[in-house]
Amino acid sequence: MNKNILLCVSGGIAVYKAVALVSKLSQAGARVKVIMTASARQFVNPLSFQVMSKNDVYFDTFDEKDSNVIAHIDLADWADLILVAPATANVIGKLANGIADDMVTTTLLATTVPVWIAPAMNVHMYDHPAVKRNLAQLATDGYQFIEPSEGFLACGYVGKGRLEEPEKITALVQQYFFASKPLAGRTVLVTAGASYVPLDNQHVISTKANGKVGQALAREAQALGAHVILLGEEATNADDLITQVENVKKQYAQLLFIHAANIPTIESAPTLSIAGTEAVTFGQKVLGNPLLQVIADEWIDYSQTATINGQIVNISDTTQFAKVLWQHILQGESQ
Ligand SMILES: Cc1cc2nc3c(=O)[nH]c(=O)nc-3n(C[C@H](O)[C@H](O)[C@H](O)COP(=O)(O)O)c2cc1C
Repeated sequence: MNKNILLCVSGGIAVYKAVALVSKLSQAGARVKVIMTASARQFVNPLSFQVMSKNDVYFDTFDEKDSNVIAHIDLADWADLILVAPATANVIGKLANGIADDMVTTTLLATTVPVWIAPAMNVHMYDHPAVKRNLAQLATDGYQFIEPSEGFLACGYVGKGRLEEPEKITALVQQYFFASKPLAGRTVLVTAGASYVPLDNQHVISTKANGKVGQALAREAQALGAHVILLGEEATNADDLITQVENVKKQYAQLLFIHAANIPTIESAPTLSIAGTEAVTFGQKVLGNPLLQVIADEWIDYSQTATINGQIVNISDTTQFAKVLWQHILQGESQ
């Protein structure tokens, strides 16, 4: 996930679940830091959170360990997302009224990043008009909620008030960060531009591609969160280009491959294999079946339009074309 998650833990019986939450978030690749209220420390020793997060645990606003920073401001700025889980009726009430009298509430008022609140309490507490009023105020203030689930509560009642399961909370966090980055964690190989084949010792036969479409596709893949390898921006010997592609294929098992470089169509030119990759090709002869084949009247860099899955799209704005093409690729993958 590669994100900084700050977990604020307040004092309910569900604190033990927050330890599992740190573990799940860390396994999902997040860096986690924890702040506990004094009441939370009555339920679980901070050492459990320290071990799970591999970070110091914070609970005292005035215990400034690093003289270069003010801890609550530093933590508020460090986070990409703050979770309050479990969120007690007390912490909800304080936050709704702008009270900052401990490390959790002070940090919550000092941050500008999204804060998600996961209430957990006795069913009658959750139904209390004061708690409802405070939750409504927090919703107006722009806070997001992870609704408690229904079930057996530690107090003996059955009803709404259980802290949502750590797996579910972690999945929601992952979805939130991946929604705008559907290629996060993927490696995308793009070939772009012209290539040449030697005719004799002094001459080559080269294509004339300018590489603009391939470059736009690589930029867009990066914006969608991919790790991008771009080959062939400089006119490349076709054999060398194929060797480079094969080397990347060996290195990355699940490769998304966009073959937008143009290899000469003469008999002596080598044929590229796209086997072992999910590939998109542009009407060129390749070995293997592409995920998607884009057809244009001329070479893709010089055409005005192309056909993707029977739909005609404009190429003149290469950035817009790259966005449309990636949409098609991602739709094709999800089917
Ligand atoms: C055994 C026990 C369980 C508790 N469970 C909860 C709970 O699930 N939710 C809640 O809002 N308060 C619960 N409380 C009450 C809070 O701990 C109490 O309101 C405290 O002041 C909250 O402080 P904090 O919000 O600073 O952590 C519980 C108290 C005890 C003794």
